[in-house]
Order: sequence, then structure tokens, then C-alpha cells
Amino acid sequence: MNEIFLSNGNEVEVFERCYRNKLPLMIKGPTGCGKSQLVLSMAKKLGVNVFSVACNEDTNAADLLGRYIIKGGETLWKDGPVTQAVKEGAILYLDEIAEAREDVVVAIHPLTDHRREVYLDKLSQVISAHSNFMFVASYNPGYQRGVRQIKSSTKQRFVTIHMTYLEPSMESNLICELTHLSQGVAKSIVTIATRIRQMAEYQLSATVSTRLLVRAAQLIVDGMDKRSACHIAIAEPLSEDRQVVEALKDLINIAI
Ligand SMILES: Nc1ncnc2c1ncn2[C@@H]1O[C@H](COP(=O)(O)OP(=O)(O)OP(=O)(O)O)[C@@H](O)[C@H]1O
Ligand SMILES: [Mg+2]
Repeated sequence: MNEIFLSNGNEVEVFERCYRNKLPLMIKGPTGCGKSQLVLSMAKKLGVNVFSVACNEDTNAADLLGRYIIKGGETLWKDGPVTQAVKEGAILYLDEIAEAREDVVVAIHPLTDHRREVYLDKLSQVISAHSNFMFVASYNPGYQRGVRQIKSSTKQRFVTIHMTYLEPSMESNLICELTHLSQGVAKSIVTIATRIRQMAEYQLSATVSTRLLVRAAQLIVDGMDKRSACHIAIAEPLSEDRQVVEALKDLINIAI
């Protein structure tokens, strides 16, 4: 796993300030723009562990806080990732918080304000967070699978940064650094991405992420034909509509 993080803005500075001041941080931004990468690189820089939890509609408070398990005929308590992070003084990274259920939201609220504690109702215990504990959450504002919305009482508990895709020259530098693709081809891939990102007419549910560009570059470095690599790594994942996919492939063929 690489820990490279490149930034358009002040994400690193804000992250460090939140860590120092024990403020919870919300990262919003489209898929594959580097939200998880920011958290990993900062954890490395600050020398703390990360406990990552991806929320979905089935994730309940016990999955996060902990539960009794039966092992060898004995009933034992097992801390969940939130409790582990709170005790150890790690970064808790709650991904896709928009998908979190109400009981999960209720369980995490006391960690996001001055209390910085977690209540384990099954043990009737209150655990205060270690001084190095940091709460980071993320969501993609353009993508809401369910009907759930993050409540403003939750949103207003976080310092919030909005991430976007890197500007073109940085995005091609990142591709080169990660894959050792040549500058020229990396630039062409980023040109494809820029054009697709500008095209509202395709009505894509999500636009092309840096993640897809890195994948295309990996395939090219592996020896695959450039156009085919971009077709399968960029055009196909973006749409189910064959006409749209063909239009994206045409755009790719012109640019690379
Ligand atoms: N700003 C960036 N700096 C470094 N790497 C990046 C950056 N943006 C994207 N990447 C690359 O793209 C990949 C996807 O990034 P990442 O997993 O951080 O996206 P994300 O915003 O967490 O997406 P998702 O919302 O889908 O979880 C990373 O593995 C990394 O290689
Ligand atoms: Mg992520």
C-alpha cells in the first residue's frame, strides 16, 4: 500500500490542526478523489493506527462498539473497531457515513463533541477516548444510494473539507509516480478524464475518478494497448448504456 497523497488544497494542514485540537473531521468528495488516501497518509505521518469501517445499511451499533461472542464454550466480550480506536488512541475512519443507520449515528455522537466518549450499554461502561484518538468520517455528496441523508445535527459536529479531483498537471504527476507511466501518455489519460468530467450530456451517475486513471495506467505499463486499456479501465466502468460507452471509447480514441 502506498502512502502518497497529493493535494489541491489545504487538506493536510486541516487534518493536522484537527488532530492537534481533537476535532472530528468530515471529508466529502467524489469517489476515487483520495479521501481514504488522505487518511492513510496522515496516519503514517502522525504515527497512529487507523481503524476503518465502511458503513452500509446492515451495519449496526454492535458491529462498531463490540459484542459478546462465544468461544470454546465461554462468553467473551469483543471490542468493535470504534472501541478499539478509542482505547488505543488511533484514527477511526468511518467511510460512507451517509449510509449509517440511526443506532450507529446515536452511538457515535458522544465521540464527536466535547465528551469524546463512547457508551457501551451492554457492559454499562463509559470509555473516554485516548488523547490521540481522532474521528474522521467521509461521504460522497453526489451519490446517495438509499434515501438516508446525513442529519444536520450530525454534519454540524464535524470540521468539514471538500475534496475534488486533482488539477490536471498534478493528476498526471500522480499517475507517473504511482505507475511509472511516461509523462506524455499520463497527460493524454488526464486529458480524457478532463473531457469526460466536462461532459454533462452523458448523464453519468459518477464521473471518472483518479482511481480509474491509475488502473488504466497500470494496464498500459503492463504492456496493454493504450486504447484498449482506457476502454476497459475508464469507459466500461462508467456506464451501462452501450451508446454512452461507445461515445466514451470514441473520445478515448481521439485523445490517445
Ligand atoms: N489526491 C490523491 N493523492 C494520492 N493518490 C490519490 C489521490 N486521489 C486518488 N488517488 C489514487 O486513487 C486511488 C483511489 O483513491 P481513494 O481510495 O483515496 O479514493 P476515495 O476518495 O476514498 O474514494 P471512495 O469514495 O470510492 O472510497 C488511490 O488508491 C490512489 O492511488
Ligand atoms: Mg475511500
